[in-house]
Amino acid sequence: MMAEPDAKSSDQNNGDMLNGEENCNSDDIVDPWNVVSTSATGIDYDKLIRRFGCCKVDENLIKEFERVTKKPAHHLLRRGIFFSHRDMYEILKRYEEKKPFFLYTGRGPSSTALHLGHLIPFLFTKWLQDTFDVPLIIQLTDDEKFLFRDLTVEEAKKLAEENAKDIIALGFDVEKTFIFSDFNYMGQSPEFYQNVVRIQRSVTFNQVKGIFGFGDSDSIGKIAFPAVQAAPSFSTSFPSIFGDKSNIPCLIPCAIDQDPYFRMTRDVAPKLGFPKPALLHSQFFPALQGAQTKMNASDPNSSVFLTDTPSQVKNKINKYAFSGGGATIEEHKERGGNCDIDIAYQYLRFFLEDDEKLEKIRKDYSSGELLTGHLKKELITILQGVVSEHQKQRKLIDEATLLKFMTSRKLNI
Ligand code: TRP
Repeated sequence: MMAEPDAKSSDQNNGDMLNGEENCNSDDIVDPWNVVSTSATGIDYDKLIRRFGCCKVDENLIKEFERVTKKPAHHLLRRGIFFSHRDMYEILKRYEEKKPFFLYTGRGPSSTALHLGHLIPFLFTKWLQDTFDVPLIIQLTDDEKFLFRDLTVEEAKKLAEENAKDIIALGFDVEKTFIFSDFNYMGQSPEFYQNVVRIQRSVTFNQVKGIFGFGDSDSIGKIAFPAVQAAPSFSTSFPSIFGDKSNIPCLIPCAIDQDPYFRMTRDVAPKLGFPKPALLHSQFFPALQGAQTKMNASDPNSSVFLTDTPSQVKNKINKYAFSGGGATIEEHKERGGNCDIDIAYQYLRFFLEDDEKLEKIRKDYSSGELLTGHLKKELITILQGVVSEHQKQRKLIDEATLLKFMTSRKLNI
């Protein structure tokens, strides 16, 4: 068995191991298509940082964030849910020096209804945009879902539009945000397609096999796709926004399973004369049934969806949220609950912003004073609020608003 390398301290560790997995001795599987852990507490994220060669979001980085932005860090950062990064110090330095950069994130439109887990990177991205006041680009990879799932082109395009409305409903600023679907934008922007093929020429079949595990019977569309997700990292893909400037770097907030795409992007960037994208990676939002897996959009009972009614939210949490509490009230009072595996508590870490309240819940639940039912009740109220507010906002998004967000144009920054 190979020894694991020591975790290197944040800044020096810029090593982008291209296929990144040579020191893997963990059972966790994390790639863009599979997230599987064998442990009840879920993925071992520290191990993942070492395997992928990225850096931990530590106290030092959070302090720097707060110093430079002059405001408290978002709770998803403070709580280590955005737990890993690449080159974040460089982005903060640019912000401080008032040098331009942009945000890039995306979504693969595979289902009509988004669930709470899909919301996490976008909620955080919204905060980043408000904090840094920079352009934001959101890619909807309808082509990816066509290639990797059993969907028609028309279905994938329709899902992209529906998902765009869900994203817009979170309150992104239309003056600063461009949302595009690959099927549409590829035909509109020669510059985007030119970057796609530049990237394609710089990566061999052997490399994508190593990074993504593609095999001889995968379609050539799948093999070529990673270049399409890489291309928006480069400012020249968006001449309407950045003119012909090729040196504006981006920061990509995403879940850690997307990292393989960006390891590849960071490897090719210098060969093409472009800056490497920086990244902030999030942990996964656990399925109701437990932290071993990521949620599955096609299993309605694995998560709370943004289309759920208040009573569906309540029933799902009460019925399916895996409990870390004792088997009986007596046992719970005696031994206390285990927050590490309790899904209702884990969800509160994502959605309850008040640190003091969360800490009190943690203490009281761990000591056995607070019962599972009470913990769940607290969560249900918060989630019903999140879901109904989103439904209200989404109803206000009309076709004209959608069209404006999805039209390639100059942004107001
Ligand atoms: N592949 C992503 C998904 O399936 C979508 C995506 C495209 C993305 N570009 C991105 C996600 C950039 C995060 C950051 O959901």
